[in-house]
Amino acid sequence: MRANAPVRYDPTRRTWDVFRYEDVKRVLDDDGTFSVDPRRADDYVEPERAEETLIFETMLFTDPPSHGDLRGVVDDAFEPRALGDLEPRIRDLAGDLLERADALGGPDDELDVVDAFAYPLPVIVIAELLGIPPSDRDRFKTWSDTLVEATSADDGDETAEYHERQQQAQMEMATYFLEALEDRRESPRDDLLTQIATGELEDGSRLSQEEALGTCILLLIAGNITTTNLITNAIRCFVDDVDGDGDVLEELRDDERALRTALEEALRYRSPVQAMGRVATEDVTVGGEVIESGDRVIAWLGSANRDERQFDDADTFVPDRTPNQHLGFGHGTHYCLGAPLARLEANVAFEELLARTSSIDLVDVDLEPTRSSFVYGVESLPIR
Ligand code: HEM
Repeated sequence: MRANAPVRYDPTRRTWDVFRYEDVKRVLDDDGTFSVDPRRADDYVEPERAEETLIFETMLFTDPPSHGDLRGVVDDAFEPRALGDLEPRIRDLAGDLLERADALGGPDDELDVVDAFAYPLPVIVIAELLGIPPSDRDRFKTWSDTLVEATSADDGDETAEYHERQQQAQMEMATYFLEALEDRRESPRDDLLTQIATGELEDGSRLSQEEALGTCILLLIAGNITTTNLITNAIRCFVDDVDGDGDVLEELRDDERALRTALEEALRYRSPVQAMGRVATEDVTVGGEVIESGDRVIAWLGSANRDERQFDDADTFVPDRTPNQHLGFGHGTHYCLGAPLARLEANVAFEELLARTSSIDLVDVDLEPTRSSFVYGVESLPIR
């Protein structure tokens, strides 16, 4: 695609796909011409249920200048300085999860790294940051899972069931958060829910109920399956290393900088988020093609990250690749708010994993892709 149809229109999806690094970066950077608000698309259809539009009230789907207001309410909590205090807690959690997994053991000492480690870790971390008590965590795992799931549109029964599950999860989660936000307004605590419930915008007003609710849901779902997949995709990169001497993990043990560099390469080579959507707000030419105002555009981060025009040996995993200007966390105004947290979680996760294992082997099974149209990873990853 990058060579023959770098910018192409797909009439069945009524969408433009953009594949090359320079074009993808331009789409992400030019937020005046490419809006994140799906409601600006010519073919936008209002969902039947109001809760389904809640997520549109969040920073992820809001253009400047309002975007800055919404992001400003929570952004200080995700700065590396603030996250430094969190590191020992993440380390404890990672250690506990690995010890529990070790104690449970599996047949032939196999361990599903997704289920036992890569999945619970980010869910627990964001739940704790928000201020959700441990007793409610299982419900959160189920809700956030359901909300990122995607299904094939041509399977009638499955689609109806899927929509019902989605609506149910949205309703339950919304009710839960509304009560929690109300509780924090009355009795503020030192947590993100309080920041969202009481934080002031530049003009001194507060987030509307919809915006506060949308922000809670966004934070919960944006960082879970993505960080899970960063951890599992990175294991696959480190253990699958076909180009090097097959011993990438050994090189990363006790070498903080090498680990950080290799994790960036995993973000490039097996990008957890493959694509982000935009809507053209005016007629614009990209890669020689005229995209009309109101047309939907998909910026393929995963393809940009493999663009041979940008990266030498783009289809090879190079653990010590520097520089590495990958677009795994996006670019520009909507650059991932949680990137410092995701990096910290992945770093700590690997330090703890490597400290407890002398070697890691992948079990030879067919891997099932993550059930989502824009997130790349696997549903489970047995290792031994
Ligand atoms: C935005 C990827 C982890 C919260 C984004 C975007 C990408 C991304 C590509 C840009 C969206 C766009 O341009 O439309 C990832 C990846 C992660 C990760 C690959 C893990 C490896 C997290 C975590 C959190 C988080 C841990 C928070 C708990 C957000 C938020 C936005 C965002 C709030 C919206 C920012 C805005 O619109 O200004 N993420 N993310 N992400 N991410 Fe992440």
